[in-house]
Formats: sequence, structure tokens, C-alpha cells
Amino acid sequence: MWRDVLLLLAGVLPVLGSRGPLDLPNSREITSKERDDFVLMEWGYDREVQEIVIELQTPIASSIALGLGSDVSLNKTDFVVAGWNKHNETYFYDAHTEGEWPPVKDKSQDYVLLDLSRNDTHSIMRVWRKWFTCDRRDQEIENDTIRVMVVIGDTEELELSDDHTFRKSIFFLEVLEHIMYPDNVLIHEFKLTDHIVADQDTSYACTFLPMPRVSKKHHIIKYEPVEDPDTIGIVHHILIYVCGNNTILMSDVGDCYGSDSRYAQCMSATFGWAVGGESFDYPSNCGVSVGTPDDPLYVRIEIHYSNFENKEGLKDSSGMRIYYTPDLRPHDCSTLMTGIFTFPIEFIPPGSTAFRNYGLCNTNLLETMLGRPIPDLTVTTFLLHGHLTARGLRIMHYRNGTLIGSLGEDKKYDFSFQQVRNLPREVTVKMGDQIVVECTSSTMDREGNTYGGPSTLNEMCIGFVFYYPAIPVASCWSLMDIHYVTNALGLDKADSIMDAILNIDAVEWDDEKKKIAQKAVMEAPHLAVVENREGRRVNETSPLPPISLPPPFHCEDDTLD
Ligand SMILES: *[C@@H]1O[C@H](CO)[C@@H](O)[C@H](O)[C@H]1NC(C)=O
Ligand SMILES: *[C@@H]1O[C@H](CO)[C@@H](O)[C@H](O)[C@H]1NC(C)=O
Ligand SMILES: *[C@@H]1O[C@H](CO)[C@@H](O)[C@H](O)[C@H]1NC(C)=O
Ligand SMILES: *[C@@H]1O[C@H](CO)[C@@H](O)[C@H](O)[C@H]1NC(C)=O
Ligand SMILES: *[C@@H]1O[C@H](CO)[C@@H](O)[C@H](O)[C@H]1NC(C)=O
Ligand SMILES: *[C@@H]1O[C@H](CO)[C@@H](O)[C@H](O)[C@H]1NC(C)=O
Ligand SMILES: *[C@@H]1O[C@H](CO)[C@@H](O)[C@H](O)[C@H]1NC(C)=O
Repeated sequence: MWRDVLLLLAGVLPVLGSRGPLDLPNSREITSKERDDFVLMEWGYDREVQEIVIELQTPIASSIALGLGSDVSLNKTDFVVAGWNKHNETYFYDAHTEGEWPPVKDKSQDYVLLDLSRNDTHSIMRVWRKWFTCDRRDQEIENDTIRVMVVIGDTEELELSDDHTFRKSIFFLEVLEHIMYPDNVLIHEFKLTDHIVADQDTSYACTFLPMPRVSKKHHIIKYEPVEDPDTIGIVHHILIYVCGNNTILMSDVGDCYGSDSRYAQCMSATFGWAVGGESFDYPSNCGVSVGTPDDPLYVRIEIHYSNFENKEGLKDSSGMRIYYTPDLRPHDCSTLMTGIFTFPIEFIPPGSTAFRNYGLCNTNLLETMLGRPIPDLTVTTFLLHGHLTARGLRIMHYRNGTLIGSLGEDKKYDFSFQQVRNLPREVTVKMGDQIVVECTSSTMDREGNTYGGPSTLNEMCIGFVFYYPAIPVASCWSLMDIHYVTNALGLDKADSIMDAILNIDAVEWDDEKKKIAQKAVMEAPHLAVVENREGRRVNETSPLPPISLPPPFHCEDDTLD
């Protein structure tokens, strides 16, 4: 009770000193389904002391609640609430919801109010907290996407309605670099023209387009999606793959993964955008080379449409815009696709809360592919890609069989927020190191098995790793030995991979069988495969290195009840 008294600050806010960073370099607009205006959220954090300051600028309101959660339900959402009561006195408290509205006060008050003010049009709330408060009621701020909700109200009683609620997925610990563009930046677009989108849930369109023609070496330093207002929400991803010199170029648009396999040539993904993504600036020390004899002359553009409303006759002219310059940076950079070879070998039993699949990259195969030693690779950036059941992805870095770090992770992956993220520090990958991509799926809402595959309803498990210096390799990934898994499940021995999958499809899952399958998936040998731009492959059989799961909560002692 005494806390409540202390927290009811009669009109005046205490001076709190300069807690946390004063700069708020990160910002996003948070929108509402029912309104045209928005909440501007600005924030800044300090990685050393693990603190964050968040400021909300809302449309005029007497009360503001900021919610941070790991899903969009109110089951376990952290709230901080501030406002003015009917006597114009301010109030402020740390709260949470457990499935019900409104939020209730936490026993442990871990937010600090730095500012609360309003004028005729806007209200402002600025708060400070530690990333890890050791209160289970508080959302830990870490390398994960956080579902942010802001609820505003005219009175102290907060009403949960669409026209008072703003939502967005935010990654608070994003690493920004202020990039200076040279004056001589050129622009080039890879795009489709009035492509008729199929009236099916999933369709893919592919065609081949030229790289910019330049007589000397240039660096591509930025890319961004070219959006078509008619297909926003339907375009699910846009990938630009660079082609090898042996590609059969097709001038029409075709189905990327249909009967004509010529549309599935060029598997070296170089520029990628997916729902919720934004533009991407390469780190200031590298660019993607174009214009030398070793550089690709053509790309394949792949657009994946998710037309779940089966709209007919939609025309799409989306694509990707690149920015390039003759002002060269110190390094050539490139992207390596790691994870699970896209093929129906990956499976997730129905009714799983957190089933994990693995893809392995054995970097020694990169040297086998090129037939020469390769220098250490420096990883700067990553992009995680899974589909609708994906809840968490980790790109784990192993040396000599030991986990030594991370090349990117998000334990709260949001399919509709696929953001290219810079690592806080560059990471060195030595040849011989292993990269394991772990994808955790939830299939509580599914009846049958979910398999790997290109449809949004299938799964993918990909970690795009951005690195320098560039080597002419497209992917470094793996498939597990499915026969090992069917054997562990006591199923009939199958002659082919497809027969083994059919056997798995017939399993009547219960908890015991899911446990056996999960164990087998972690023990099964993998066929690690490296592919180059021309589609040539090398492979080897290899077990996964030992996998350990991250601790679910950072503090040993917590203050729950
Ligand atoms: C929230 O809790 C309800 C009731 O326990 C449950 O049915 C629902 O699946 C939960 N939602 C999420 C996203 O966990
Ligand atoms: C409360 O404060 C606002 C802004 O300072 C002022 O416009 C308003 O008249 C005040 N209302 C009351 C009831 O004092
Ligand atoms: C009210 O506050 C908002 C947000 O800080 C600001 O953009 C706006 O200019 C202010 N309006 C006036 C009239 O001062
Ligand atoms: C095509 O590229 C490969 C590998 O980069 C190279 O070995 C080959 O000579 C090239 N062929 C032509 C016709 O340029
Ligand atoms: C792995 O371990 C071996 C033997 O302990 C050592 O010689 C080698 O340098 C290590 N490799 C790396 C990349 O550290
Ligand atoms: C976040 O990820 C980075 C890079 O992967 C890692 O160095 C860091 O320890 C992680 N931080 C936390 C709080 O997990
Ligand atoms: C793996 O390599 C062997 C031998 O080079 C080859 O026969 C086989 O087709 C390769 N498998 C795949 C999936 O690339």
C-alpha cells in the first residue's frame, strides 16, 4: 500500500537525475487498426550497463499504458502505466496482465518515470528500466522481437478497444550505424511489371534481370524493396539471387518452383526482403561488388505471394532497388545462406509447443568447393527466415565442437517482422568452424505434420549470414538423415526419402513419440551441402555438434510472489 502512496505523485514529478542514455536514436511509428494517427516511439539503450529509455509520444491522452510481450495475447504482458487523474495529479506504476484487462500493479516496481507531459495535441511518457529486472512480471529486453502495444485513454480507466490500441513488433536492441552516402550514388531497380498474381494462397513469380552495366568496379551499398501499393500485404518476400555464367536466361515470368526447373536456377541469395522488413545499408566498411569480370551479370528475382483472400486479377510491380557507387569501400561483402536445405525432410509433428529442427554448415566444405584455402570470414549482419510455425531461430557458432557464440538469434521470431539486423560486434568465422541454425516451431493449431517447403504453410529454417570478404559460394546447409528418425520411431525401413516421409506422415503422434522424434532429430547424421553460384555441389556426412538450450530466464532468484 505504501508503494501506491509513493507512486501517486501529486502533480509534480521528482527529479530523477540523468538515468540512462539521453539520446533516443531509434524510433518507429506504432499504428492502430482503427486510426490514422500513430504513436511515435523513440528509444535508446546502453549495452554496457544494460539499461533502456523509451519515450512515447501519443495523440492527446490522460492515460498511457505501454505493454511489452512475447506474443500478442495478454497472457503475460509487462505494462508500465502513467497518466493524470481527475484532479490533474499524475500517477505511474509498473504492472502486468495475466490474461485479463486491465493491468494490475507489480509487487516489484522496476520502471522509473523520466517525463510525463502533454499539450493540446500530444502526451509524452518517457521511462527508464534495466533490461533484466529479475521480476518475472517484466519482459526481459534482449535479442528478441518484442510485441509492443500502447493503450491510451481519456480517463484513468483504460479501455481496451481497437481505437485506443496501437501495436507493432519492435526489436529494441537494433544496432544502427550512421552511414554517409557519397554524392555519386546510382540507383538500379529489379522489378516485375504488372505481373498478374495467381488467386491462390501461395504463388511464386520468377524472372531474370540484368545487373547494372558498369565499365569498372562499383559497390552496392544499400537495398530496399520497391513496393507496389496494390500488393502490400500480399507480397510475402522478395529475393534477388545472383546468377552464374551458366544460367539459361528466361525473359518471361514463370513459377519459380513449378515444372520448368529453369526458373529455379541461381540459388545465391544476395538481397532479401520479407514482410515487415525495411531498407538495408551495408556496414560502412563493405559493399557488394559489381562490374568486375568475376561479378554476376544477371540476377533472378523471386517474389513470393501470399494471397490468402484469393483476390483475382491483382497486378504487381514490386521488386528491389539497389544503390551503388564507384567510391569503393575496403571490403567486398556477400551473403551466405545457412540452415536447412529446403526440402520436405524437415518435419514438425502437430500439437508441438516447441519442436526444434537443425541445419548444419560445415565451413571446411567451403574450401573443398573452391579448392583453395579461404581466409577468416567476418560476419556483420544476419537475417532469420522461418514461416508461420517458427517461434525462435538461433544461428549458433561452433569451433572444435564447442559453442563459442552466436551469429544472430531471435527467440521470439515474428513471421511478419523479418528484419535484417547488424550484430553488435563483428564475429570471425574460421574455416573448420560449424554454423548450426536451430528453428523452434509451435504447431498447437495444426492437425497434420508440417514439412519443409516453399509454401508459407510449409516451414523454412534459414539464417542469411552477411560477411566479408566475399567468396563465390551460395549456400552452406544440410539435410538430416530421415532414415535415422524413422528407425528411432520404429517405422518400416523405407527405400527412398519420399517413402520415409510417407511413413512419418502416417504416425499417430503422442507425447512419447514426439519426444523420441525430437531426440532423433538432434542425433541424426546430416548431409552437409555447399553449393556455388553455378549450382555445383559438394557434400559430406557429419553429426551435429552438441546442442544446449538457452536458459529461459536470466535471473536465478526472482521476485515472483
Ligand atoms: C493465452 O491463454 C489462453 C488460456 O489459457 C490460451 O488458450 C491461449 O492459447 C494463450 N495464448 C497464447 C498466445 O499463448
Ligand atoms: C489540468 O491541467 C491542464 C494542463 O495543465 C489544464 O489545461 C487543465 O485546466 C487542468 N484541469 C484541472 C481540472 O485542473
Ligand atoms: C505538442 O507536443 C508535440 C509532441 O511533442 C509537438 O510535436 C507539438 O508541436 C506540440 N504542440 C504545440 C502546440 O506545442
Ligand atoms: C564461369 O564461372 C566459373 C566459376 O566461377 C569459371 O570457372 C568459368 O571459367 C566461367 N566460365 C565462363 C565461360 O566464363
Ligand atoms: C581445434 O583443436 C585442435 C586440437 O586441440 C587445434 O589444433 C586447432 O587449432 C583447433 N582449431 C581451431 C579453429 O581453434
Ligand atoms: C545478443 O546477441 C549478441 C550477438 O549474437 C550476443 O553477443 C549477446 O551476448 C546477446 N545478448 C544477450 C543479452 O543475449
Ligand atoms: C553428395 O555427393 C555425392 C558424391 O559426390 C553425390 O553422388 C550426391 O549426389 C551428393 N548428394 C547431394 C544431395 O548433393
